[in-house]
Amino acid sequence: MKIGIYGGTFNPPHLGHMTAARYAMEALELDELLFIPAALPPHKLLPGGTPAPEARVAMTEILADNLLCGERARVSDLELRRAGKSYSSDTILELRREYPTAEFWFLMGSDMFLTLQQWHEPGKLLAQTGVAAFARTKSDPVTAMEDQAQRLRKTYGAQVKVLHLPEVVEISSTRLRAALERGEGSEFLCPSVWGYILMHQLYGTHADLTALSDRDLRACSYSMVKAKRLRHIQGTEEEAVRLALHWGADPEKARKAAILHDCTKYLSGKEQLQLCEKYGIVLDDLERRAVKLLHSKTGAAIAKHVFGMPDDIYDAIFWHTTGKADMTLLEKILYTADYMEPSREFDGVERLRELAYTDLDAAVLLGCDMSIADMEERHQPVHRNTLEARNWLRDRK
Ligand SMILES: [Fe+2]
Ligand SMILES: [Fe+2]
Repeated sequence: MKIGIYGGTFNPPHLGHMTAARYAMEALELDELLFIPAALPPHKLLPGGTPAPEARVAMTEILADNLLCGERARVSDLELRRAGKSYSSDTILELRREYPTAEFWFLMGSDMFLTLQQWHEPGKLLAQTGVAAFARTKSDPVTAMEDQAQRLRKTYGAQVKVLHLPEVVEISSTRLRAALERGEGSEFLCPSVWGYILMHQLYGTHADLTALSDRDLRACSYSMVKAKRLRHIQGTEEEAVRLALHWGADPEKARKAAILHDCTKYLSGKEQLQLCEKYGIVLDDLERRAVKLLHSKTGAAIAKHVFGMPDDIYDAIFWHTTGKADMTLLEKILYTADYMEPSREFDGVERLRELAYTDLDAAVLLGCDMSIADMEERHQPVHRNTLEARNWLRDRK
């Protein structure tokens, strides 16, 4: 098994890291990539304003998740659990115990690579792992790197590869931190990482979360969910805006409701229940057991209390999973968009898409009918609000 090891302070993890990680996985044909955020790097002090290690781990986890290769890219807190300076030679020995037969590749940028012989116990490190150094053709001293590769091979018998990265992102963490402090630089970050920074007011940012641009609102919402969910959320936004324009609802309200509708989807049952308690959401018996139903209620609460959304958006999110009797136009739009957005695939979705633009009530009714049939098939209890929504729509016909 080939494992890439990507160390660094990840302060913050940015698109440069992401490009390099993606490229290394392919070029080295890695089975796994481990990001290892350093507690205290040996070569430098962490600058003032550096977020707590937990926040750097959380941001790196978001970045790894956004590589969209599942468990193959992970974050290890191994260096954070160890006291004192984070020496790579200690890290590699710890990893060796965990993976006795793995082939390791240590990934690093040019500045680290060119000073490798001055590291703590380089021989110990190089006996355990290959080194893959990233060269950016425009800005890095490629010849010096090739020379260094030769030297390390000769001196330590090291396995060394110089990887020529595609020129995509050129940013140093130092410059990025300074830009963030000025309220700039988000274009160098994966949107979900930027959202995490905004929500936690890191690097001197102090955004008013109740007055975010759509772009920043998306970033915050995306930072709370798994990257594999983003396609669905983006599809729901697209569809909700289209439906709003078609049926004469406020497209910007539809947009914001869609952006936030699933933001608590990945919270644990315990976290969902805590939020319900915090925001005074009263639950029935079924909801206490079927935690899957809770994300619409907690999502609505976050939309209102964290992002300052008005009541009609709150309601649209609150009812997006079950529906209810007497739904408003905005509620019907989000319910339907969530059901049939472009990335959804299931039997009957085409009929739903047709109805959504010809008879919205009929689309919601079909959605309720399909949900009820699906629950019955799986011998799951049907939520009473869905039954009430169906009966209400049938009566209207
Ligand atoms: Fe949902
Ligand atoms: Fe959804």
